[in-house]
Formats: sequence, structure tokens, C-alpha cells
Amino acid sequence: MSAHDVPIFPDGFLFGAATASYQIEGAVAEDGRTPSIWDTFSHTPGKTLRGDTGDVAADHYHRVAEDVGLMQELGLQAYRFSLAWPRIQPGESGEFNQRGLDFYSRLVDRLLAAGVAPIATLYHWDLPQRLEDTGGWTSRTTSEAFATYASRVAEVLGDRVHTWTTLNEPWCSAYLGYCSGVHAPGRQSQAESLSAVHHLNLGHGLAVQAVRAVRPGARMSITHNLHVIRPADPESPEDLDVVRRLDALGNRAFLGPELDGAYPEDLLADMASVTDWSFARDGDLEAIHQPIDVLGINYYTTSLARKWDGVSERNQGDGHEVAAQPPWPGPDDVDFVLEPGPRTQMGWLVEPAGLTELLVGTARDYPGIPLMVTENGAAYPDVVSPDGRVHDVDRTEYVRRHLAAVRDAIDAGADVRGYLLWSLLDNFEWAFGYERRFGIIYVDYATQRRTVKDSGRFYASVIRANSRR
Ligand code: FCB
Repeated sequence: MSAHDVPIFPDGFLFGAATASYQIEGAVAEDGRTPSIWDTFSHTPGKTLRGDTGDVAADHYHRVAEDVGLMQELGLQAYRFSLAWPRIQPGESGEFNQRGLDFYSRLVDRLLAAGVAPIATLYHWDLPQRLEDTGGWTSRTTSEAFATYASRVAEVLGDRVHTWTTLNEPWCSAYLGYCSGVHAPGRQSQAESLSAVHHLNLGHGLAVQAVRAVRPGARMSITHNLHVIRPADPESPEDLDVVRRLDALGNRAFLGPELDGAYPEDLLADMASVTDWSFARDGDLEAIHQPIDVLGINYYTTSLARKWDGVSERNQGDGHEVAAQPPWPGPDDVDFVLEPGPRTQMGWLVEPAGLTELLVGTARDYPGIPLMVTENGAAYPDVVSPDGRVHDVDRTEYVRRHLAAVRDAIDAGADVRGYLLWSLLDNFEWAFGYERRFGIIYVDYATQRRTVKDSGRFYASVIRANSRR
């Protein structure tokens, strides 16, 4: 790799990596933690590949010192992690568990000592099971409980956290969790998924207010997996309408209330036969519509959609597991077209231009809100070579091209403040268990030995080149 292949970013641009609690921590019954919906789901036969669970994961709970040491070795400037809510409020009555709070407090201290900015996600899908038992994200009590939890966490960590992210990818929580059911809690109801959309939005707004109430200067954000969906035939009004509908459900159902203070009219009309939205109460939109300091964007791929003709074999491969029920509420007439091109082990098309398009488009739609790429990365079947290294050429190339795509977006005027690679470590990839490795650090699950992959070395060289300016 020659030096001119390394993109150089504006001063202050943050290079980091991301993880999530249930995917890496393990120690599921330690120091008072109680089950989350992902413990229940992964322990239910047939829900995850080979029955994998997060019981041990990458054992990060016991290896924080080593893992922060690796971040330092790579030169990471930021680390995006999530807090396990069931460590912090494990009990039925919702009392706070000091041992859970202490774990994250020590992590944050270690990060700061290593010169790594802590970017804390309050919710990355591990809802306490006790809250699912009282309705989960279809219930207002969950949104309110989320704010209570956020407030306490902000009191404890708010003096040291660089940026707070309320929710990670509420699209997945709502539609994969409550509509297609391929993620926890595994419900399959179109109406419930829309109720979950609303209560996640509400939880976000209430949490932003709760954190700011105790830490007025807190930098607040939310992370979305905004969808880049293109019409199979740009001349076809029917394909264009399918894309519009998916954009409303996938993107504007969240950005609308959060950033504009309203649900899009076309979304309400499209979903009129699914729900009357009676779960949304007066005042909710005002609560949801809070200023944020940065918008997090997770990007992996693009997709191509068309209206299904009703006869030809249909592809539901929109980048997620194929389920009996698609994750999109409303008419079941969407066909995702498989475009030719290189794909990762997830089956996701490698399309860096989609990231540029997404960043530039979002910056245009929401001027004044800085953006951060909070996840981007790729799964490939890695092997440890006889030389002891992991020569993950495809992932290295994926990262290099996507960094260039971010740089292109900045050149085109998007205010992008950082790039957080998914993921620091190989980890529990939800329904795909341990088969799909996204890390720039290889984890041998039998020994928990970590090996920096070639992609990690490459990323470290990019960070070094950028720090030398
Ligand atoms: C995102 C999730 C993250 C990880 C990546 C591959 O949807 O936020 O936890 O699973 O996909």
C-alpha cells in the first residue's frame, strides 16, 4: 500500500471502532446482571445459527485491560461501546446496580487514560427481559424506563463521556424484533412493529432530555442504519412508489419525528390499514423532537427494490435474514433485486458510493447537523495463516474504499466528524452467531486469544498518517 492510498481527513476527524455489549461482553450472570431479550432469544432453540448465544462472547467483561491496550496499539482515537441495561437495572423494581455502573465507569477511565474518546450507546438491543414482559417497545412504560436509566447513567459517567448515543438502529429493534421476528424479542406483528417505532422514538426523545437535565452540556446523538434503496427501474412509477414507501418506513419514520417533529404524511397514509397510531399521544412529538449534536449513520450496503409482479420468484434478500414475514409492514409486494457485484459474507453488496451518496444526501436534508459514521465494516470468513497472521485482504480493501467514500462526501460538502469501524473485535453477530466475523482483531473463541488482522494494521496506518499532519 503506497502512502497516496491513505486518505487524509480534516483536523479533528475521529477514527475509532465500535462494539456492543451483548456481542462482546459475555459474563451474562455476573455482578448482578439479569437476562436481556437477547439472552432469552438466543437460548430459544432455532433462533440463532448453531444455537450460538452471547453467554461468553469475546469475554470482554474480563478482558477490558487487554482490549483497551489493543485500541491503544492501533492508535484508535474513539471507541463506541454500548451499556448493558440489564447490568445497570437488573431487578424487577428497577433499582440501580452499582457493580454494573462500576464496570462502565472503569472502562471509561481506562479509555481516557489510553487517550481514547468514549462514545457511549445507551441501547444496543439488550432490553431487560423484565421490560419485554410488560410490553417491551410496544409499551410507553419502556420509553419512560429508558429515560430513568439514561439519567442515572449520565449522572455517573456524564463527566467523562465524549458523546452519548441514545439508540442504535431502532429500525432493527422495531422491524426485525417485532415484525419479521428474526431478532429478539422475535415477535411477528406489523402493528406492533409500528408501535415499537413510536416508542423507540419516544424513548430517544425522553432520554435526550433526561441526560441533558443532569448534564446540560452533554453531546447527544442517535445512530440510524439509514437505507439507501434504489428503484430497479427508475422509469417505473410502481418501483419508485415502492422505494418511496420503504424510505418512509426505513428512514423518515425516525428522522421525521426526531428532526422535523412530525411523522411523514405518506407514512401515515401507507400504514392506515395496519395501525391507527392511537399509541401516539398528544405531546409525544414535542418530546421526540429534541435537538441533537451529531447524527450517527451506520452503513454497510445499498439495495435495489421493485414492485413484485406477483408471479416471478421473489427475493426478500434485503440484507437481513429471510423470514416468513418480511420486516416491512404494509403491502407484501416488495421484491429486492440482486445486483451483480462483489458481496461480503453477509450477502451485502460492496458499494462504497452508497456511503458517499447517503452522507451527502443526509447533510443536504439536515444542514447544520454534523454526521458521524458510527458503523461500517464487513464480514469475511477469516483464517489464521501459518505465519500467525490474518491476511484479510477483502476487509482491508472494503475499509480502504469506504474511507475514501467518506472523504469524497466531505469534499462534496458533508460535515462528517468521524468514522467508527465495525468492529473492534470479532463477536456474536446476532442471529448469525459466531460464524460472521467483522473484527479488525481476530478472536479465537476457544482460547479468547486476540490477533490484530491485516485490516487492523492497515487502519492503524491510516490513523498514523492522519496524525502526522
Ligand atoms: C448492525 C448492528 C451491529 C452489527 C452490524 C454488523 O446492524 O448495529 O450490532 O451487528 O450490523
